[in-house]
Amino acid sequence: MSLIVWDETYSVNNPEIDDQHKTWIDITNELHDALMNADLKRLTETAEKDLTEMRDYTRYHFMAEEAFMQAADYPDFPAHKQIHDKFYIHIKDMCTDIEEGKLVLTTDIMKTLKKWLQNHILTEDRKFREFRVA
Ligand code: FEO
Repeated sequence: MSLIVWDETYSVNNPEIDDQHKTWIDITNELHDALMNADLKRLTETAEKDLTEMRDYTRYHFMAEEAFMQAADYPDFPAHKQIHDKFYIHIKDMCTDIEEGKLVLTTDIMKTLKKWLQNHILTEDRKFREFRVA
């Protein structure tokens, strides 16, 4: 069962960003499936691969979304970028800790990621849904 299911309540009125959020959610669901299905021996390897994919996609998505916000003169861009930067550092540190064997992926970590993603899209990202690039 998927951890997060995208529906219209997640839409930010921008097809390109909506598609990126769908991919971001897919990667999160894959990470969750890996945790649920991998045996202990393979868990670290699978978590490392999927979390690295999530880290890289998060960076790609944040850069694209930030370019849109700047082009659309979104007034809350600086505050939104700060939230992005903080989360990206968190994901990057998690990747490093898993690679170095200091962290093991758990359902609590997945719950935190799910909560952050849902909260960010539904509250922060949706604030720019009325903005367009002139
Ligand atoms: Fe879609 Fe602000 O991340």
